[in-house]
Amino acid sequence: MSISNLHFSNTELFARAQKIIPGGVNSPVRAFKAVGGTPVFFTHAKGAYLWDVEGKSYLDYVGSWGPMILGHADPEVIEAVIAQVRQGLGFGAPSPLEIQLAEKIQSLMPSLQKIRCVNSGTEATMSAIRLARGFTGRNKIIKFNGCYHGHADGLLVMAGSGGLTFGNPSSPGVPSSTTWHTLSLDYNNLEQLKQTFEERPEDIAAVILEPIAGNMNMVMPTPQFLQALRALCTQYGALLIFDEVMTGFRVHLQGAQTLFNITPDLTCLGKIIGGGMPVGAFGGRAEIMSHLSPEGPVYQAGTLSGNPVAMAAGIATLEGLSRLGVFELVSERTSQLVSGLKAVAAQYQVPFQALSQGGMFGFYFTDLGRLPSTLEDVQKSDLTRFNQFFHHMLDHGIYLAPSGFEAGFVSYRHSASDIQKTLDTAELFFKNG
Ligand SMILES: Cc1ncc(COP(=O)(O)O)c(C=O)c1O
Repeated sequence: MSISNLHFSNTELFARAQKIIPGGVNSPVRAFKAVGGTPVFFTHAKGAYLWDVEGKSYLDYVGSWGPMILGHADPEVIEAVIAQVRQGLGFGAPSPLEIQLAEKIQSLMPSLQKIRCVNSGTEATMSAIRLARGFTGRNKIIKFNGCYHGHADGLLVMAGSGGLTFGNPSSPGVPSSTTWHTLSLDYNNLEQLKQTFEERPEDIAAVILEPIAGNMNMVMPTPQFLQALRALCTQYGALLIFDEVMTGFRVHLQGAQTLFNITPDLTCLGKIIGGGMPVGAFGGRAEIMSHLSPEGPVYQAGTLSGNPVAMAAGIATLEGLSRLGVFELVSERTSQLVSGLKAVAAQYQVPFQALSQGGMFGFYFTDLGRLPSTLEDVQKSDLTRFNQFFHHMLDHGIYLAPSGFEAGFVSYRHSASDIQKTLDTAELFFKNG
């Protein structure tokens, strides 16, 4: 009998899931390990709302971890998907939709002179790094502490605080020989970056970063840091890779690269470009991209890459988002949320910091007196307080990311009254705590 025909509680489903799926989930953060309690099992979603198996609705600030910027089940995205499904689920051969999505991406992000589609953000970063190594003939990669670039072996490095860490894999199963070429530095630490380049002037193939970090809550780069990073990469012949899997079309309609006016050599994309379907992409200077197979020698491939149904969802999402006023509204609602939260916290004298950019936001229970600018700063925030806040909001039907190390997302379908409801619910917490 199908599960969907029966009425199970979240607790029953989680118990059942744990017997057959490791941890009961297909991606770790979903298991609520950081915040405790039982994950919610959803049946459907529309606009700004999700519904669980118990019939309870939730105002959603996760948006499938970013893609749902137009809101869930956007009518045009759904129509585009259904129309394509009727034409076939996949061909394993070129289709015009692949060109259409690539051209749409390029019209918004001109630095992507050539684009290759893949199936996830992980694939995008992994392939971009292989390409950077193949193009430069060098091996070392610089990443930054607290930035997540998917779960490819070479990028799973938990760097120790301060100083450089060579080859400290953050997961069993990743040989240290695999991460030997990965250097992890402090985000926003210009001196450390300069020193690393000076010590290894001819070793660095690429520097990869989230141009606004969204996997250690939300951390902004300083303008000096990004500018110097660009200049150092050019000076030392290393490629600058912007991982815009999260920030692309989210912090600015044309991505963080336009927001900060920095042109990376390569860009990785995901999330929004698939409109909720499994898609990733990477692209950049034609001269570099031409090193990719079959034009060049650097191998990269995928059975389902450029899948027409996924392409259709991505095109419809980017078209919808580019419509006049859509992105502006998402940004406005997000800043209303953040300024409202800060005002409520200030009213009850709760040590609190919050920020937003476009449709992405972050908040901290911290007495740092300023926004965190490194992973170390983020780690100093009060995660116990965050967990209590998370459960308070969840109990009241507001679904936040289940970890204090994640950014939040607002959609086009979040109304002014949804934001007000969120602030009123947050106020109950601040008032009592
Ligand atoms: C910045 C960034 N890069 C890469 C990834 C990996 O993407 P995926 O989960 O689609 O493999 C993520 C996922 O959250 C991400 O936020």
